[in-house]
Formats: sequence, C-alpha cells, structure tokens
Amino acid sequence: MSRIYLSPPHLSGYEQELVGEAFRSNWIAPLGPMVDAFEREICEFIGIQHGVALASGTAALHLAMILSNVKPGDEVLCPTLTFSASANAITYVGAHPVFIDCTYETWNLDPDLLNEELAAQGREGRKMAAVVAVDLYGQCADYGRIEEICKVHGVPLIEDSAEALGATYGNEKAGCFGQMAVFSFNGNKTITTSGGGMLVSKDSDLISKARFLATQARDPAAHYEHSTIGYNYRMSNILAAIGRGQLKVIEDRLAARRRNFEYYFEALNGIPGISFMPEVSYGRSSRWLTCILVDPTHFGVAREDIRLALEAENIESRPIWKPMHMQPVFSKCRVRGGSVSENLFAGGLCLPSGSQMTVEELHRVVSTVKNCYRTS
Ligand SMILES: Cc1ncc(COP(=O)(O)O)c(C=O)c1O
Repeated sequence: MSRIYLSPPHLSGYEQELVGEAFRSNWIAPLGPMVDAFEREICEFIGIQHGVALASGTAALHLAMILSNVKPGDEVLCPTLTFSASANAITYVGAHPVFIDCTYETWNLDPDLLNEELAAQGREGRKMAAVVAVDLYGQCADYGRIEEICKVHGVPLIEDSAEALGATYGNEKAGCFGQMAVFSFNGNKTITTSGGGMLVSKDSDLISKARFLATQARDPAAHYEHSTIGYNYRMSNILAAIGRGQLKVIEDRLAARRRNFEYYFEALNGIPGISFMPEVSYGRSSRWLTCILVDPTHFGVAREDIRLALEAENIESRPIWKPMHMQPVFSKCRVRGGSVSENLFAGGLCLPSGSQMTVEELHRVVSTVKNCYRTS
C-alpha cells in the first residue's frame, strides 16, 4: 500500500517553466527578478504592502526579533502550543521566552492570560520586549483582542503565520496583524519553495531594514563596508520561481485542504470521543492540517494507539505540537497556565492533509481511525 504522507509538496506544473525562465536568463543567483515578483505576488495575495523573501520562516522570525529591538536578557511572550521555531528565534537574540497557554476555542494564544502576564509585569515595573502570536494549523489568533492588549501595554506584536497562508481574520488575511508577520514555504506548507520564508509588514522601513540585514548588511559603498552585523538570509531566484509556480494555484490548494477537513468531519465527527480543532467565528481557517482531539474514555483507545494503527497502514500522522514548556530545552522558562496545551497535546492528532489527497486515501485514513474505536 502506498504511503500517505502528512502534508507533502504538491507541484502545480507551472514551476518548471518558471525555473527554466530563471535558468535561461542566467539569473539563478543571487536574488533576481523572480524574487522581486514573488515578493510582490505574495504581498498582493495577502493584501499587505511590503515583503522580503528569505531562506526560511525561522530566518524571518529571527529578523523580526532584531527589528523589534529585542535585546539579550529581555523577555518575549509566546504561546506554549507552537512549533519550536517560534520560541527558538527569541533565544537567537539572547532573550528568554515566557510561555502563555492557549484556549480550547482557538488553540491559539489566550488573550486573557496574555493580558494578565503583561499587567503582572507592568506592576513590577517591567516591560516585555515583544509578543509573538501564532496562527496555529491555519487558524488566526484572536487579533481583535491581542492587538488591543499589546497596544495598551505598549509591546510590539509579531504574527507567526508560518502555518496559515490564506487564513482570514474578519475581512483581512493572515499576515496583516502586528508590526510584522512571518510566513514559511517549507516542504509541508500549503505552498512551498522547497525551503523558504517571508517577512511582511505595512511598514516599508522595517522591510528595508530586514532586506539590508538579510543581505549581509552592506553599507552603500563600492567596497564592502559594514557597520552592522549582517546575515545571509535571502531566498534564491530559483526557489522564488518555484514559489511563483505554486502561488498560481493557491486558491485550489486552499480549497483542497478545506475539502479534506470536511471529509474527515463528515466521517468522524459523530464518533464518541472524537472532536475537531474548532473554527472560530471571527475568521476562516485555511485548515493547513486537519487536527482531531481524542478522548480515550469515550473513544476506547488513546491518540497514540490511533497514530500507531495509521502507521501500521503506512499512513503518516503526527501528534499536536508538544508544548514548549514541556520541552527539555525550555524547562527553565516561565509559563502562565499550560494545562489546556498539555491536554491538547495528550489527545491531539494531525491527520494527513495534503492538497493532492484522493477520496480513496481519505477513506483509508477514516476507516483506519474508525477501526480503532472500542466500546466496552
Ligand atoms: C509556527 C511555525 N513557525 C515557524 C516555522 C518555521 O518555518 P521554517 O521551517 O520555514 O523555518 C514553522 C514551520 O516550520 C512553524 O510551523
């Protein structure tokens, strides 16, 4: 039986032509017109003014920390339920993450706990250097409240939208919130450049600075003059060509991921002990990954039993991100709350969600999950 992957790349057929164009023009590196066009097209899609294409989403987060003026010894708030890159970038500038729990309704940063933490720090005369909000598994965090809270406390907000290209909050797309937002185009994302990322913002000055830092921080001079530490973080023209080919079919890809979710929901939602990551009324999730929550007391077996049963059928699935406050590397970091994320981790499973999944493959996943169900 052929393997069903969690979220593999899905080529559109346009990529080769665009990569060929880059080769024919001899612009394979450095940078080049494909990069400029990819930046423009992604910004148009999101509805934001400025963007800089980078080597990865993690590089974009690192630059966001530097541009938010986060310094060694500072503290930065970050949801505990996220992929490690959100927190790792905080440490790259010598700062310390402080983790905040999420809510059951959003699986994203809990605005009440965020406010509590910022207020508590304020009472002690301390100020957080920044807040990172994450749009988990394709769903926007509650920006109406989070932006307001950050404004009241005077703390810059960074949107880690690595997983949520195409999601919406109200009438705006993911990527339009906070001072800057981060996207990833690694191999398992809704669209991929094989590896890559982007930093976007309404503020042209921030993106110009990011571009400067990402290109080795060269001061204007014919010789190589440097007054700042720089990074080699830009995306190559070849990878941008792949991204442009992918972006041509973004609406189809988003629709396919939503269709996966709907198929799974129809088939599994009535089963005792199975529930789905909720979709919040303020926006539309891109359903990058379809995530279920398994309650073993009603389903009869645990999340891990389902994962192993899927694996035995050559189907890849993955537990929900292990919360950062449970990770050995962050064990010394503070956390506010944490039990919601711990419970989601204990019962949460990401089902195969690739945009090329066939109905037969979806059926294979569903019947394997259903076969795990045990009534006592
Ligand atoms: C929430 C989140 N932030 C950041 C990243 C980092 O992106 P990249 O893999 O492009 O460095 C990822 C994905 O890998 C992610 O899921």
